[in-house]
Amino acid sequence: MPLLIENGEIVTADSRQRADIYIEDEQITRIGRDLEVPPGTEVIDAAGKYVFPGFIDPHVHIHLPFMGTFAKDSHETGSKAAVVGGTTTYIEMCCPNRNDDVLEGYQLWKGMAEGKSVCDYSFHMAVPKFDPKTEGQLREIVADGIASFKVFLAYKNFFGVDDEELYGTLRLAKELGVITTAHCENAELVAQLQPRILEQGLTGPEGHEPSRPESVEAEGTHRFATFLENTGATGYVVHLSCIPALNATMAAKARGVAVHVEVVIPHLLLDKSWAERPDFEGAKYIMSPPLRDKRNQPVLWEGVKRGFVDTVATDHCPFDLEQKDMGRGDFTKIPNGMPAIEDRVNLLWTYGVSRGGLDIHRFVDAASTRAARLFGLFPRKGTVAVGSDADLVVYDPNWRGTCSVETQHMNNDYSAFEGFELDGRPAVVTVRGKVAARDGAFVGEAGRGRLLRRQPAYF
Ligand code: URP
Ligand code: ZN
Ligand code: ZN
Repeated sequence: MPLLIENGEIVTADSRQRADIYIEDEQITRIGRDLEVPPGTEVIDAAGKYVFPGFIDPHVHIHLPFMGTFAKDSHETGSKAAVVGGTTTYIEMCCPNRNDDVLEGYQLWKGMAEGKSVCDYSFHMAVPKFDPKTEGQLREIVADGIASFKVFLAYKNFFGVDDEELYGTLRLAKELGVITTAHCENAELVAQLQPRILEQGLTGPEGHEPSRPESVEAEGTHRFATFLENTGATGYVVHLSCIPALNATMAAKARGVAVHVEVVIPHLLLDKSWAERPDFEGAKYIMSPPLRDKRNQPVLWEGVKRGFVDTVATDHCPFDLEQKDMGRGDFTKIPNGMPAIEDRVNLLWTYGVSRGGLDIHRFVDAASTRAARLFGLFPRKGTVAVGSDADLVVYDPNWRGTCSVETQHMNNDYSAFEGFELDGRPAVVTVRGKVAARDGAFVGEAGRGRLLRRQPAYF
């Protein structure tokens, strides 16, 4: 059935207009005032609300075997949480480890999502080792429509690559026109520092940040940028958390290196004092890179506002309290990660646009359009235009509420943002022209999501 969204204020990364949107066969076919529509058209009144392009989360973990356990969400639960919160596309990190066969890993991750996700999705293909067999497999995976790699400079002997492997990966990325995303922490320094912090008696979650200090992330970021510089490849630093790392990317950009930057909502809103909470409560807030000293936050926000930071993602990676308990008495065993996919858009709206002076167009850009452009999804995703997929968020800026484990759809037993006030939420979310969420509830069809195949563009 065709759909009309009328009377809303359409806001994209670079435009704003009051107009109606007509949708047929999953796509936007007309935008204008007082559109004539056939009888039987479903009509949504968006008066008093914004209409944004569906938001894109370019960094999530759904299926993730990690630190002796598995992240909690499935594509069913994670994608429902995503659309309720306004995210209509996500890019999952496909993360086989060094002992796995990369192609088998890719097929496994693809199979986990197929017919399960309620919204569209793609993958960044992790490269946990680089040898001739893996290289051949990566060529196949790129030909299958996966136009981005992921490297971990952290997690020694598990996901992490050494410098030789990093160089080989980036040379291949350059040849294939693929963008490479990177977790930038020096794995060796973390491995050396962790036992020393434990020896000092810092065994609880408060030991996590000092075991991977800002300098460790700055080194990884600088090294990644230097490898980009010497291969000509294009890169994207994921979950950048601190000023020295941001400075490393800005210095690299100033000398012409093609490096892009992502921050994640936990680093913008939570500082390391959350991970220092007593009685092991801090374990809820353990992720890597760690939550940092508060002085970093205004600088990260400024980066988002001015566009030095390209995207705001989540690094959604939920572990429940029982899983976190695996690290009681030894912080190095606390599974790293926290839930956020459902809350990102509302938190960025509230603490960015509503209360923090973030321009509404930059908000759309950072949470949707830039990711679409960087990762080969634009203009199918990331904008409101004739011919684009009808992934739309009718956003109610007058709704008031809070984040809470009681109301969330993420498959976890705590909210990292419990009690955080919200100044808005999606009233209606459409995925390819069908209503998928309304007023905080999932109302869509199971398994409608499709794998988005993307073309390389960074030659
Ligand atoms: O702590 C985190 N970030 N967990 C997920 C894995 C990763 O490094 O992105
Ligand atoms: Zn990471
Ligand atoms: Zn991640």
